[in-house]
Amino acid sequence: MPENRDTEFAWKYHDATKHSHSSVRTNPHFLDFANQPLPFKIYPSLEPMRLPSEMRQTGVAALSAICDSVKNRTNAAPDLAAIAQLLYLSAGITRQRKFSGGEIYFRAAACTGALYEVELYLVCSGLSDLSAGVYHFAPAEFGLRKLRDGDYRSVLVEAAGNESAIARARLIIVCTCTYWRNAWKYQDRTYRHFGWDNGTMLANLLAATTALGLPAKVACGFVDETVNQLLDVDPQREVAFSLVSVGHSSQDPPPSPVNVPALGLETVPLSRSEIDYPLMREMHAASSLHSRKEASMWRARTPLMNLPPPAAPVVQLQTLSDDEMPRDSIEQVILRRGSSRKFARTPITLPQLSTMLHRATRGVPADFLDPMGTQLNHLYLIVNAVDGVEPGAYVFHCDSGLLECLKQGNFRDQVGCLGLEQQLPADAAVDIFFLADLHPILQRFGNRGYRAVQLEAGILGGKLYLAAYAQRLGATGLTFYDDDVIRFFSPHAEGKSAIFLVAVGNSAKHQP
Ligand SMILES: Cc1cc2nc3c(=O)[nH]c(=O)nc-3n(C[C@H](O)[C@H](O)[C@H](O)COP(=O)(O)O)c2cc1C
Repeated sequence: MPENRDTEFAWKYHDATKHSHSSVRTNPHFLDFANQPLPFKIYPSLEPMRLPSEMRQTGVAALSAICDSVKNRTNAAPDLAAIAQLLYLSAGITRQRKFSGGEIYFRAAACTGALYEVELYLVCSGLSDLSAGVYHFAPAEFGLRKLRDGDYRSVLVEAAGNESAIARARLIIVCTCTYWRNAWKYQDRTYRHFGWDNGTMLANLLAATTALGLPAKVACGFVDETVNQLLDVDPQREVAFSLVSVGHSSQDPPPSPVNVPALGLETVPLSRSEIDYPLMREMHAASSLHSRKEASMWRARTPLMNLPPPAAPVVQLQTLSDDEMPRDSIEQVILRRGSSRKFARTPITLPQLSTMLHRATRGVPADFLDPMGTQLNHLYLIVNAVDGVEPGAYVFHCDSGLLECLKQGNFRDQVGCLGLEQQLPADAAVDIFFLADLHPILQRFGNRGYRAVQLEAGILGGKLYLAAYAQRLGATGLTFYDDDVIRFFSPHAEGKSAIFLVAVGNSAKHQP
């Protein structure tokens, strides 16, 4: 059995899945549209129970919802309408578009290739209008399919080594990732996308829980096999990636059922045939935890990832004043969001950029980020067009609200190259790269630290998306040439790894 502590696996996976000019040019991969996977998991033998489709308007401003969190209080439980809202705002179908080969069902959160490999399951106590059970969320029908009847929360409490928020949650949302659905296009790199795409979804989910006044926390430390067995997923194809506790109860859940039998439920095959990419399953196995004790030892004690103090000229962030702060609600902003397909080369303002950076980095409630506010990724920026900021390369000092200038210059062409030779990063007003020093992260968290760092980047990237759209700007996630990014930001970034990229600017669609 591979060992989480043997971090050679994470390094091997990371190095093997870097994009370089030659890896991209010599890859013979093509998209076999006749074999494209279904975007939904379908259990043909189970009838879905429809969720209430009428959305409550919380009226909570998106820019508040993404940065606030709700403290635990006795007995906070979602009812069915709140659950419907949480699921819709994180994974619901918000738009659909026909194209020659079929139809794309776009979802509430951004996802690489619109392939939607993340599935959601609920494990809950009896709630108002929903009996205790294990359910699968079916976005196509906007419904729930009941997989198990009864309260199985204790199974997750044990799997998570008694993590306190999971132990007191009324509802636990389990996010799984399906290899083939994303690997059809992205091959081995898909394991990185698990963190990214699960993360953007969690940004929405956390904001929605906050808007509904429900405490929520992300957990990455759990015994994988136990969670996969509870959901009865085939771990060769689909694996649990993160848990989210929702609500709070003053009581412990009832003891777990003595056994959790296999369900053997039929599911519709995703494609005619599937191609296996063993490197990802190896990475997953090597980052798996095998006992409650291992899960409880895994969490917290986040390594300190402080940047050296600024050694170069700085720009002080200037967030929008309360009067200027857009108040569009989280519901409005999530429904408006959609990745920009073209940016106008027009500037955004320093207060707009400052507000995005500030609001997106106020902390993520997660079992691997302790104390809350700790961050694994650092944000490096290429500023193309921000009023009041010289074009150039910067690193963001989150604690002091400063941008440290690493070099000045017009880097539009270079950033176009760094972003896999796409036009979007070249046209954007600012490109925000997430870079992390994997050495202390893997040393502390083992291979599973690799899941955590990708997931954190996805969550912060998802918050940046929402912060941009709240201000009527556009944004898109992007992929990148790994080592070229590090070279560009070096010497400051030496030793770090490129994890994530999001571009922000004015959408060309909305220009006069
Ligand atoms: C992490 C991440 C990376 C992405 N990379 C690219 C990219 O390299 N190029 C691109 O055009 N779009 C990219 N996208 C945008 C997706 O294609 C887009 O999210 C998806 O088509 C769904 O559409 P929507 O975001 O408008 O809902 C990326 C999105 C994410 C979340």
